[in-house]
Amino acid sequence: MDAADMGRDLERVLITEDELRTKIKEIAGKIDADYAGRDLLIVGVLKGAVMVMADLARALRVPVEMDWMAVSSYGAGTKTSGVVRVLKDLDTDIAGRDVLVVEDIIDSGLTLSWLVRNLRSRNPASVEICAAVRKPDAIKVPIDVKYVGFDIPNEFVIGYGLDYAERYRNLPFIGTLAPHVYGGDGKTTEKR
Ligand code: IMP
Ligand code: MG
Repeated sequence: MDAADMGRDLERVLITEDELRTKIKEIAGKIDADYAGRDLLIVGVLKGAVMVMADLARALRVPVEMDWMAVSSYGAGTKTSGVVRVLKDLDTDIAGRDVLVVEDIIDSGLTLSWLVRNLRSRNPASVEICAAVRKPDAIKVPIDVKYVGFDIPNEFVIGYGLDYAERYRNLPFIGTLAPHVYGGDGKTTEKR
C-alpha cells in the first residue's frame, strides 16, 4: 500500500519510507554498541511494533531473541483510554535478561509506563525502550526512552504499523489521515 492507494484519505506524509529506513539503521548501530557481548531480548508490542521490529531486528548486528506482547489501551477510536489489558504475555522468562521493548509510538506514555513496571516486576537485568515515534506534547507520565526515532506533533498518525481502526498499518511511511476518515480533529489528548 502506498500514498496513491490512499486517495483523499491521506492528509500528508510526515516521515517517509527512506527517513524511517535511515533512522532505524542508525538506532540499530547504537543498540549494537550498547549491547555488544550481551544477550539481548527484544520485545515487540503487538500489533503496532511489527514493522519496526522487523526492520530493527534485521538491521542489528548483535544476535537477539525476539518475543512479543499484546496489550490494549485503545479501542477502535483515536483517544487514549488509560486502561491497559494484557492480551498476550511473553513466552520468555525474562529474569536476569537484558530486555529492550520495541514500540511503534509513545503518545501519552501510559501504556509503556505500565508495561515497563510490569516487566521490571519480573526481575530482568535491564529494561529499556525503543520507539519509532514519540509525541512530546501528548505525554502524561514521565518515561525514559533510550532510543527514539522521531518526535512528531500531537496529531493522530497512521502507517508503518500504526493503525486507525486496524487499517493503514501496511503503509511504508507515517502520515496523517484526512479528518473526514474519522470525523474528528485528529487530536488524541482530549479526555472522554
Ligand atoms: P499511549 O499509551 O497513549 O502512549 O499509546 C498507546 C498506544 O496507542 C500506542 O502503542 C498505539 O498503539 C496507540 N496510538 C497512540 N497514538 C497513536 C496514533 O497517533 N496513531 C495510531 N495509534 C496510536
Ligand atoms: Mg501500539
